[in-house]
Formats: sequence, structure tokens, C-alpha cells
Amino acid sequence: MTAGEAVLRAARSFVQGDSSKHSDGHDWPHIERVTALAVELAHRMGADPFVCELAALLHDVPDEKLNESLEAGMAKLNDWLDTQPLDPDIRNKVVGIISTISYAGGQRAAVSSLEAQVVQDADRLDALGAIGIARTFAFSGARGREMYDPSLPPREQMTREEYRNGRSTTINHFYEKLFKLKDLMNTSYGKELAEQRHDYMVQFVDQFKREWEGTDR
Ligand code: ADP
Ligand code: NI
Repeated sequence: MTAGEAVLRAARSFVQGDSSKHSDGHDWPHIERVTALAVELAHRMGADPFVCELAALLHDVPDEKLNESLEAGMAKLNDWLDTQPLDPDIRNKVVGIISTISYAGGQRAAVSSLEAQVVQDADRLDALGAIGIARTFAFSGARGREMYDPSLPPREQMTREEYRNGRSTTINHFYEKLFKLKDLMNTSYGKELAEQRHDYMVQFVDQFKREWEGTDR
């Protein structure tokens, strides 16, 4: 086993032990899917596959939802990296990727390196399509959020206060975030996949509303 393979293996066991068993969006299968996609995208786009694989494996370690704060999460990530025999250049790249893509919510910073673009695309693609739909309902269910409320205004027309008080539904999340992702993809192959997954979600939301309103029969 090369030194690089040993680091990847250690990262797998560190992250697997750390991630939740529940399908709350930050489970180990999410990490596995994002990592596999990041490696494939790296090969297609000519990015460094080792950097992409390691960053994808570790990308949710500092997530605010899983730590007391983003800073505490970054400290956990850095403590683990201290235990690994990594070239400082590679380590900086990995930390740079994770910190640019891991700010939860809001406008994420534009990413510059090809490796960061690849990992961000892989993470965004897992929020789309059938799995994206399932993760969104699982996340909302875990937070006790309603599925749908046709009387609610779209997110853009809600006050901050209303939104903070949880007056948003699972279906609203598609408009708030998921339907916007296809236009935010960085790589050509990522965009192609995102478009297919996007179309599937549009069909799903259409059918969901038809069944809700009873217009499908
Ligand atoms: P990621 O790990 O892909 O960066 P997030 O941490 O933002 O994603 O969210 C994890 C999952 O939970 C995603 O599939 C996302 O769509 C879903 N999710 C995040 N915020 C909400 C929300 N407000 N309502 C419903 N689902 C959400
Ligand atoms: Ni993620």
C-alpha cells in the first residue's frame, strides 16, 4: 500500500466512525457517493484524483450541523490531519477545498481550483435527483417540518422572521435551493448530470402537486 492509499484508508475509517447512521443527509452513504463521484469527475476533468478523493471523504467533518461551530469542526479536521503523513501542499489544498465548500446555507464562496470545483459539484449532485428528493424529505422529517402547504408564500416572499420560525416546507426547499443548483455547476460533466437529475425533480414536484390537488385523476 502506498502512503497515499494509507491516508485514504485512515480517512475512511475516521469518517465512517464519525458519521451518523441515520439518513439525515450526513450519513456515511452520502460520503461514499460523493467520494465516488468526485473521483470520477476528477478523472474526466483532469483534476488531481488523490486531492479530490481525500477532500470528498472529509468534506462534512467540519459541518456546522455536526459540530458546536464551524471553527470547532475545522479544529477537529486539523487535529486529524496532524496525525497523517501528508505533504503540506496537499494538506493545504484539501483544507482549502473543504473550507470553501462547507459553509452551510447562504451564498457559498465561488471556488477557484479545479479540485474544489470537482468536490463541490459531487456534493451538489447528491442533493439532486431521486436521492436528493429522499435526503430532503429525511432531513425535513428529522426536523419536524411539514411536507407542503400550498397557502405559504414562496421563500422569496417570506420575511426572515417567518423563515426562521420554520414557516418553510419540504417542497419549498426545492425552490429555495435544489432547483437553483443546476445553474451553479462548475464542470461540464457535472452540469450534464445535474440537468438529468433536475428534470427528474421537476417531474416529481409536478406530480406531487397534482396528487395533492387531486388533478391527476
Ligand atoms: P450537503 O452535505 O450536500 O452540503 P446540506 O448539509 O446543505 O448538504 O444538507 C443535507 C441534505 O439536507 C441535502 O440533501 C439538503 O437538500 C437537505 N436540506 C438542507 N437544508 C434543508 C431544508 N431547509 N429543508 C429540507 N431539506 C434540507
Ligand atoms: Ni455533503
